[in-house]
Amino acid sequence: MSALLDIISPPSLLPFELVSGQGSRVFTSDGTPYWDFYGGHAVALLGQGHPGWVQALASQATTLSFVTTVAPLAIREEAARRLAAFAGLDRVFFVNSGAEANEAALKVARKATGRSVIVAMERGFHGRTMACLGVTQSASYRSQHSPVHGDVRFVPFGDIEALDAALDDTVAAVLLEPLQGIAGILEPPPGYLTDVRAACDRVGALFICDEIQTGVGRTGLPFRFHSEPCRPDLVTCGKSLGNGFPVAALLLTEAMAATTSPGEHGTTFGGAPLACAAAIAVLDAIEAEDLLPKARAIGAFVRSMAPGGARAVPGVVAVRGDGCLLGLILDRPASSVGAALRDAGILTGTAHDPCCLRICPPATLPDEALHALHAALVAALGDS
Ligand SMILES: Cc1ncc(COP(=O)(O)O)c(C=O)c1O
Repeated sequence: MSALLDIISPPSLLPFELVSGQGSRVFTSDGTPYWDFYGGHAVALLGQGHPGWVQALASQATTLSFVTTVAPLAIREEAARRLAAFAGLDRVFFVNSGAEANEAALKVARKATGRSVIVAMERGFHGRTMACLGVTQSASYRSQHSPVHGDVRFVPFGDIEALDAALDDTVAAVLLEPLQGIAGILEPPPGYLTDVRAACDRVGALFICDEIQTGVGRTGLPFRFHSEPCRPDLVTCGKSLGNGFPVAALLLTEAMAATTSPGEHGTTFGGAPLACAAAIAVLDAIEAEDLLPKARAIGAFVRSMAPGGARAVPGVVAVRGDGCLLGLILDRPASSVGAALRDAGILTGTAHDPCCLRICPPATLPDEALHALHAALVAALGDS
C-alpha cells in the first residue's frame, strides 16, 4: 500500500506516471512522448528543463542555497525589483504558494482599510487554505469545511451593476481573477476591470487582482490586468513565476506597502535564494526569448480553431482566453475528448465547465505541437 495521503482528486487527468521532460514534451517510463498542453496546472511557462532556469538554480544552489528570510539578500532584492517593474507595481513580498499570497493580500487589505467585508466573484477560485476557502464560492471546496472564514459577499463575475450594489463603506476589498481560470476560462466584458477600479474607489475599497493563474506572461501580457488601463492595489501571482520551483508573490502599490510594518507577516521559505533565482530566470527568459509575443501567437493559433476561424474544428463551439491560457469550449464533455487526445499523445486539462478543455502550454511550444493538437482535435471530435 502506498504511504501517500491521497486526499487530492483521483488521478483521472493522468492515469500514468511521467518520468522525464524536455521543453514542451513529457515522457513516461517506456519513453512514450506527450505534447504538454497542460503545463502542470499552468505552471511550466518555459517548459521542462529550460537551460537558463536549470543553470540559474544550479548556480544558486552551489553559491548560497538558503539563508533566513529575515536577513538581507541581494538576489531577493533583485527578484523583487524585476518582478515589480514587470508588473508595474512598487513592492513585492515573496511567499511559497498562491493561497499564501492571497492570504497575505487579505491581511493587508483588512488592516489598511480597517474594514472586514470582502466582495468576491461567483465561480472564482483563490486557493484551499481557510481564508481562501472563505472567498472561493464553490461548494465542492467549502462544504466539508464549514463554517468557512470571513465576511464575504459573492457577486456574478463581469456584472458591474451587481458589484456596485454589493459595495458599501464596510467593504475592505474586491477580489477577483481578471479571467476565471479553473471555472472554465471565463472572460469579463471589455472595460470591466476599469469599472471595478472605479467602483472600488467610490466606496474606498481596495482592488485585489488574483493573477496566480493569469500572471507572469501566461496570457501574452505581463499581467492580465494590463489588458485595461487600471492599476489594482494588490496583485498576487504564483504558478508560472517559478516554472515549477515553488514561489509566489504579493505585489503592492507604495500606498499599500506604507500600511504594513516590519514583522507583521512572515514566512520561513518565502523569498529564499533558490526561489528568487527561479523567478529571475523566468523573467529573463520572457524577455530574452520574446515569450510574450510567442504566447500571443500560440493563443491566436488556438483561437483560429473557433467557428469561422481559419482552422475551425467541427465540435469546437468557442475558444476563450488568450496566450497560453485558453479554453476550447466543446459541444460535448471535455473529459472524453481529453482522453482521446491523450491517446494521440497530447495532454490537456479540464475545468469546472464540463465542456471546457483547458489548454495551458509552455510559451516555448513549437508550431509542430500546435499542428499536432489541431489534427488530434479534428480526429477526436470527428470520431465520436
Ligand atoms: C486563480 C488562482 N488562485 C489561487 C490558486 C491557489 O494557488 P496554490 O495552489 O499555489 O495555493 C490557484 C491555483 O490553481 C488559482 O488558479
